[in-house]
Amino acid sequence: MEKLMRAFFLFLSKNRFLTKMAKKYGLRFGASKFVAGETIEEAVKVIKELNQQGLSVTIDYLGEFVDSEKEATEMADNSIKAIQAIQREGLNSQLSLKLTSMGLDISDKLVLQNMRRIMEAAVENNVFVTIDMEDYTRCEKTLDIFKKLKSEYANIGTVLQAYLYRTEQDLQHLDEYSPNLRLVKGAYKESAEVAYPLKADVDENFKKLISSHILNGHFTAVATHDDTIIEYMKQFVSEHELDRDLFEFQMLYGIRSDRQLELVKEGYNMRVYVPYGTDWYGYFMRRLAERPANVAFVLKGIFKK
Ligand code: FDA
Repeated sequence: MEKLMRAFFLFLSKNRFLTKMAKKYGLRFGASKFVAGETIEEAVKVIKELNQQGLSVTIDYLGEFVDSEKEATEMADNSIKAIQAIQREGLNSQLSLKLTSMGLDISDKLVLQNMRRIMEAAVENNVFVTIDMEDYTRCEKTLDIFKKLKSEYANIGTVLQAYLYRTEQDLQHLDEYSPNLRLVKGAYKESAEVAYPLKADVDENFKKLISSHILNGHFTAVATHDDTIIEYMKQFVSEHELDRDLFEFQMLYGIRSDRQLELVKEGYNMRVYVPYGTDWYGYFMRRLAERPANVAFVLKGIFKK
């Protein structure tokens, strides 16, 4: 049943018509639990509250199905505005973005042009940028672009997904770039040809990747809501007497907010991924796919009205 629901919501997340409708009619169906607002002003307000509680942030201007040069350029402009807001408002925040929203599916020239504009603004305003990882078909290209940009700019990182068979090798190949990496389980629907179908195998690979990256001396962001992985990480760093500033935990805005604060109280670095913007639909559907409890929450919200 859980598998079916996951497939259903991932299927819905790719629907262009619903994406368009959602953009037109604004944040609904409880999406504001996971999305910090439609404007940068609304997002800034949320980030200030999170910062006050000791949480650092990475902000993401949402954009799905970007398939014209004009849209990609506007997406880049909005990411630059977010960088400027971080500096202007004195926020403890980084920036996250997806290369498809910068024109990855249009041309390499366009995506590099947009990314270099963003990176210039990021350097000027001292903001770190993370390139999110999308589905398997874009993984190789995303890593190629990351490597190119990383040799030009220090303040850039990316994401590796534990569910992919290729990730262990990718981690080895990236080592020479001393990358700051966010490690995740992986959020997209992938075939057994490219990804571990069993959760237990994904979890084992996740632990393997975390330990090898941090032991190589590179900054490691462990992005998960899973207590088993969090406990593994805590024990691992304590056994190896690693400095707590070599890593951080990351969680999504609106998910396990109490746990986020507990980790801060325990003295760990905790970063919250805060998405905002009118294009919230695909992101919201992926969150529903991850956890049936999220669906129950949304249904309650709909029926209460
Ligand atoms: P998982 O979903 O496997 O759940 C394991 C356990 O965690 C559950 O059984 C439960 O105990 C606990 N749990 C999970 N959610 C809970 C909740 N709401 N309340 C209480 N307990 C809960 N993916 C991707 O492909 N590319 C990317 O760039 C990113 N970026 C990213 C950034 C950040 C900051 C995060 C946190 C995640 C991502 N992801 C991602 C998503 C990631 O790949 C993954 O899909 C989700 O984090 C879900 O997997 P988890 O590791 O959280 O646990």
